[in-house]
Amino acid sequence: MDKIIIHGGKKLKGEVVISGSKNSTLPILFATLLSDEPSIIKNVPSLADIDTTVKFLNFIGKKTVKKGNIVRTYSSCKYKHIAPYDLVRKMRASVLIMGPLLARLNRVDVSLPGGCTIGARPIDIHLDAFKKLGAEIFVKGGYIKALAKGGLKGAVINLKFPSVGATENILLSAVLAKGRTTVVNVAKEPEVEDLVNVLNKMGAKVNGAGTEKIIIDGVDNLRGFTHEVIPDRIEAATYMIAAAITKGEIVLKNVVPKHVETIISKLKKSGLFIKENETTIRVKWVRGLNPQNIKTETYPGFPTDVQAQWMALMCLLKGHSKEEETIFENRFMHIAELQRFGANIKINSRVASIIGVDKFSGAPVMVSDLRAGAALVLAGLAAEGETVVSRVYHLDRGYELLEKKLKKLGADIKRVHV
Ligand code: UD1
Repeated sequence: MDKIIIHGGKKLKGEVVISGSKNSTLPILFATLLSDEPSIIKNVPSLADIDTTVKFLNFIGKKTVKKGNIVRTYSSCKYKHIAPYDLVRKMRASVLIMGPLLARLNRVDVSLPGGCTIGARPIDIHLDAFKKLGAEIFVKGGYIKALAKGGLKGAVINLKFPSVGATENILLSAVLAKGRTTVVNVAKEPEVEDLVNVLNKMGAKVNGAGTEKIIIDGVDNLRGFTHEVIPDRIEAATYMIAAAITKGEIVLKNVVPKHVETIISKLKKSGLFIKENETTIRVKWVRGLNPQNIKTETYPGFPTDVQAQWMALMCLLKGHSKEEETIFENRFMHIAELQRFGANIKINSRVASIIGVDKFSGAPVMVSDLRAGAALVLAGLAAEGETVVSRVYHLDRGYELLEKKLKKLGADIKRVHV
């Protein structure tokens, strides 16, 4: 098991190239199953979740090869319809196998994904949508079995919550359903738009991405595609906060500033200097920052995936702030670890109250989930002395070349194998 060791207190300075979005790449990889033709995906980050998905696609019957930051898929022969526990348990997003396989084979058996540390994460919204599209769903032997005897048929689907994964699963199935599917209260996240762009390149007829209503007119078959994945907005936000927390100056390259508008505006309000260009963002600490309250919301609101990192920063600013987590019911696992650095945080249900402290001192800490891990690394970068971060495999799921990028910015950080 690897550990990351940080000697904090260095002001980060320099340029960092933001990688392709993990959360965009995953559904796009699953979309390759919708066509028998080869596809090419560029700007794919090298991350554990991507490797898991590549393995998954090969298991299902889609030859998929990742070389550097490019994934190629080849002509398909025959797909299996069973997604076993061993593949599904590694990654929640595995549930996205359901849409394409239901569309192509009219059936799919997926092992129940199980819970995870940030909440129960049910998939009822996905399953209700598949039922509306004509699938029968039942659970047997730890598997969810979905069967659409006469094939999927377009329907009107009203989501009770704009779930990102459910929106993607509906898109990945309804593009090949018979007739029109209208989905209301869909997720508006940029990753959903990226997937829709891919599907339309494949010959699908999808309209309304980025709005609350998506209309999908089913087609008979889809072609292969070439696509460059959008930059990772969560990674970008993490590096902006890294500049703020270390009182440094970082230029982020290969970003879409619009995708991180909410974070930029909060950081500016806090007193950070930020200048955006078309594909770059310059972030510079010029004076003491003011704390800002946040409440996590669906896009374009403040992302739940940046809540933990934001908290690390708020802990070190003079004054009080509050964070409300509205998306996941148990996403405060980082608080106990931040307290080990000396943070002053109290939790009342889904609201965390933070009183800024003058400094953090380095500590041994343990990562519970991906973004909590990012918060602990940020805290370690700002802390006096040594921080040892364990269970870093969570970080490897979502941050490409983390130590390399931070080192290039001047951080004293290294990974050790123990
Ligand atoms: C995606 C992102 C994740 C991000 C989240 C919210 C990927 C691979 N992951 O996760 O990084 O934190 O969006 O922006 O893209 N829910 C249900 N029933 C369902 C589906 C969801 O109750 O069928 C609940 C979840 O438990 C959660 C909330 O809805 O409380 C949001 O989940 P969702 O938008 O589906 O997130 P994911 O797609 O899992």
